[in-house]
Amino acid sequence: MIAIGSDHGGVELKEKVIKHLQARGIECEDTGCYSTESCDYPVYAKKVTDLVTSGKCELGILICGTGIGMSMAANKEDGIRAALCHDCFSAEATKQHNNANVLCMGARVIGEGLACKIADIFIDTPFSNDERHIRRISMFD
Ligand code: RB5
Repeated sequence: MIAIGSDHGGVELKEKVIKHLQARGIECEDTGCYSTESCDYPVYAKKVTDLVTSGKCELGILICGTGIGMSMAANKEDGIRAALCHDCFSAEATKQHNNANVLCMGARVIGEGLACKIADIFIDTPFSNDERHIRRISMFD
């Protein structure tokens, strides 16, 4: 199960990413927001990170205008390793090296096709389990 949330800046892209993931048979817990009315991204970052840290969802996806506010807010939560990714290489590397558990994207930065591809790579790439990466993560986790 993937937890997915956005603010008003990301709500339209969130809908598209959800449809894409559901078409792949991936279940999504949509934590809102649900309209383009202005709202506060930290509220939605918290809803998604709570689902991830509680173990109810394996991974989270957060979308705002830039992805930056969401990544800042998400990374304040213990146990969250949120990665802002706007390219496929970063999405793959952050799972392999950082064992990222939340993907952040900016709807004003990338389009639907790239966002869905990045989400696919993020979900499908496993952590390397490499000792050096485990050590580095444990140094800040
Ligand atoms: C909302 O206008 C915008 O500030 C928000 O979506 C996000 O980009 C913040 O980082």
